[in-house]
Amino acid sequence: MQGEKTRKLYVGTSWKMNKTVNESRQYISTLCDFMNNNPQVIKNLEVFVLPAFLAIDSAIQIINKTNSDLKIGAQDCCWEDFGAFTGEVSPMHLKDLGASYVELGHAERRNIFMETDEMVSKKVAAVIKNNMKPILCIGEEEKPSQINIALHFLEHQLMDDLNKIDRTDLKNIVIAYEPVWAIGATASAPLDYIEEAMGFLRNLLNKKFGNNCGNDQVIIYGGSVTPESARDILALKNNDGIFVGRSALNVEYFINMIKMANEVQKSKITSF
Ligand code: PGA
Repeated sequence: MQGEKTRKLYVGTSWKMNKTVNESRQYISTLCDFMNNNPQVIKNLEVFVLPAFLAIDSAIQIINKTNSDLKIGAQDCCWEDFGAFTGEVSPMHLKDLGASYVELGHAERRNIFMETDEMVSKKVAAVIKNNMKPILCIGEEEKPSQINIALHFLEHQLMDDLNKIDRTDLKNIVIAYEPVWAIGATASAPLDYIEEAMGFLRNLLNKKFGNNCGNDQVIIYGGSVTPESARDILALKNNDGIFVGRSALNVEYFINMIKMANEVQKSKITSF
């Protein structure tokens, strides 16, 4: 046992390919106002939004102007800083804008745009090199008849995606466990299923990287999180937060989930 501690809870959203720049500005302004007016609610939380690339600059300008703790990130990037990569977005450019996070390996990138684990692992290393934090998405495609089948898949996917980093980099990585079958679905994965998968990931990191690093790893859950399900998911012992798609497109819903995270955080003492 490594002692007891409260863990910071993460509440984040990716808007995917939604919201114009103007709509993004309105949402970010409302969210920054809420966060600035409620410092006690967000004190032990990490709140992040991943807008479309074109809205990142405006979002960061609002944050700088209002001096807000909200973090902004991108939904993808290239593994190179510059060069002949037509249409790609450089991690160096995202850092230059003031982005804090870059989501990598989301199921839609893997399945629609054919991203491989090799590409994802190069992107993870590139984002770290540029002093931003990867939000590395992993997850099995289908709900298996036995969870062991999923765990076996997760082990290979995670190790392949992390094969270019060291143990010391892990503290700068957020792992988002997103079972693909629960993304865009009618319900999240069952609570005991999420808990078991996350416990497995922590043990795996301990085994592969040593130093009990898995116990401190930030691991969050994504896949059909809603204002109705958020509280129970946030309360899971092995879970550090929620990563929300559709249900956070409405800023009031997102703010409600931030409030829930604060309530859960206040009562959550995790011991490993
Ligand atoms: P969803 O998206 O909340 O709309 O299921 C989650 C995700 O893709 O991360």
